[in-house]
Amino acid sequence: MVMVDLHCHLLQGIDDGSKNMTISLRLAREATKNGVTHALLTPHHMNGRYVNHKQDVIRRTKEFQKQLKNHNIPLMVFPGQEVRINGQLLTALDEDDILFADTGNRYLMLEFPDDDVSHYTNQMIFDLQQRGITPVIVHPERNTKIMAQPELLYQLLEKGCLSQITASSYVGTFGKKVENFSRQLIEAGQGYVFASDAHNLPGRKYEMRQAFEKLSQEFGGELVEQYQNNARDIINGANVPLNETRKIKKKKRFWLF
Ligand SMILES: [Fe+2]
Repeated sequence: MVMVDLHCHLLQGIDDGSKNMTISLRLAREATKNGVTHALLTPHHMNGRYVNHKQDVIRRTKEFQKQLKNHNIPLMVFPGQEVRINGQLLTALDEDDILFADTGNRYLMLEFPDDDVSHYTNQMIFDLQQRGITPVIVHPERNTKIMAQPELLYQLLEKGCLSQITASSYVGTFGKKVENFSRQLIEAGQGYVFASDAHNLPGRKYEMRQAFEKLSQEFGGELVEQYQNNARDIINGANVPLNETRKIKKKKRFWLF
């Protein structure tokens, strides 16, 4: 069975992910133990700290695929980038320095800053969509501004963006708040795929299997299938069936004093 992981930091020494080949191979083994068969390698790009040019990622991904083969790890890898929204993004696209999730340049794994949805986001999303690009917003459940104002994500999804929820968020690795918000997003139809976002950090593991088991328990096997199909459609550049999204109601606060 095919299982696609659209977001991970397995390429060594180029961002805050894997530090060396030993770690990369260990993470790759963990991926396959979790059922992952195909992984999009998404080093950070243009996030203010890391720049990973398209051609470098392509070359490194080919080299890594050879290593995987040599070590008999049955994982197919594809070059990608986790692109931070930034003012130079359209120029980078013009210069052909951006990697998409698919080879048809349709789905872009787009990251926001951890604590903000920049004021130019709507304009940028519009500009991307004008170019036929569908942004896949990565881990919105960990963005503190979206947590405080969930309608920000709702509006982006209504415009046709997709979203990627990180498996570890949903299983509780980042704490109860992120776990609960992940569940709320899923419940409101505001999630499309799970991905590992695997780094080599203490306490961060591949939690894809666990996340899918939990999804099956809480929402049923049909949604598991849908999430896995969506990930496959994204990497294939195919149409992803759009969810019926609902707004998230904010809980009322009751003050005692
Ligand atoms: Fe990431």
